Amino acid sequence: SIVYLNGEFLRLADAKVSVLDRGFVFGDGIYEVVPVYKGVPFRMHQHIARLQRSLQSVRIHLEYTEAQWQALVEGVLARVDDSASNLMVYLQVTRGVAKRDHAFPAAVEPTVFCMASPFARPGKAQREEGLAAISVPDTRWLLCHIKSISLLGNVLAKQAAVDAGVDEVLQFREGYLTEGSSCNIWVVKNGVLMAPEANHLILEGIRYRFLAELARNAGIPFEARPVSAEEVNDADELMLTSATKEVLPIVRYNGNPVGTGKPGPVYALLRASYDRVIE
Ligand code: PDD
Repeated sequence: SIVYLNGEFLRLADAKVSVLDRGFVFGDGIYEVVPVYKGVPFRMHQHIARLQRSLQSVRIHLEYTEAQWQALVEGVLARVDDSASNLMVYLQVTRGVAKRDHAFPAAVEPTVFCMASPFARPGKAQREEGLAAISVPDTRWLLCHIKSISLLGNVLAKQAAVDAGVDEVLQFREGYLTEGSSCNIWVVKNGVLMAPEANHLILEGIRYRFLAELARNAGIPFEARPVSAEEVNDADELMLTSATKEVLPIVRYNGNPVGTGKPGPVYALLRASYDRVIE
């Protein structure tokens, strides 16, 4: 497959980055994951806006306009062999290549990388039977609103789920829900949809706004507010959202059934609305 690296379209095997790249040495960079349905990137404008915010937050100066990002992504999509399948676009910018020193290098060109991979939407089993999750302490840093490639905390959290034989973790900081390892978490109680506010403790997913919009259109009340561990234990429904998981129900939590132990009615409504928009 063909990828974009620093102004060139190359075969994946020919795309090479120096071992002194600060992404490799420090995890000094940011990224985006954009789902592409039937050849059309979903909510591209919002992904690019978040990418620009991430760059600004970590003070990587890159003069790419939205139109340039769009052209770059379209360039990669135009070179995909299997354009019939749904795709996932991965975009990454690192501070660039420089002698190892924690401080920003004086003159450095950011490394810009983009690839598209086939992406299988969540299957019937996950959608209809749901997922299992456990709770873990959120051990990450305090700038989780930045879509940083420094993902060790997220990687360790996800592996805790794998080691426990479940699909996902719910992370908690000082007794309050933050998010999953690479997804946002939603809680339903008495017909009200809740999620932690989008502050520095979580990544505001592009699907965070999308799901809140779908809820509003479906007449489901939505509250963005702190959600305690007790409220999660007591939830009628739990679900998660991300670019690759879309929206999925969590039906087992810390070994217990969530609500009835089956995907609930709020999930069913949101799932159906979600599908109507993208199909
Ligand atoms: N992850 N929270 C975290 C920590 C994430 O990494 C992600 C996305 C989300 C959901 O954001 P969105 O709806 O924009 O996908 C929330 C991507 C998919 C990843 O790292 O692969």
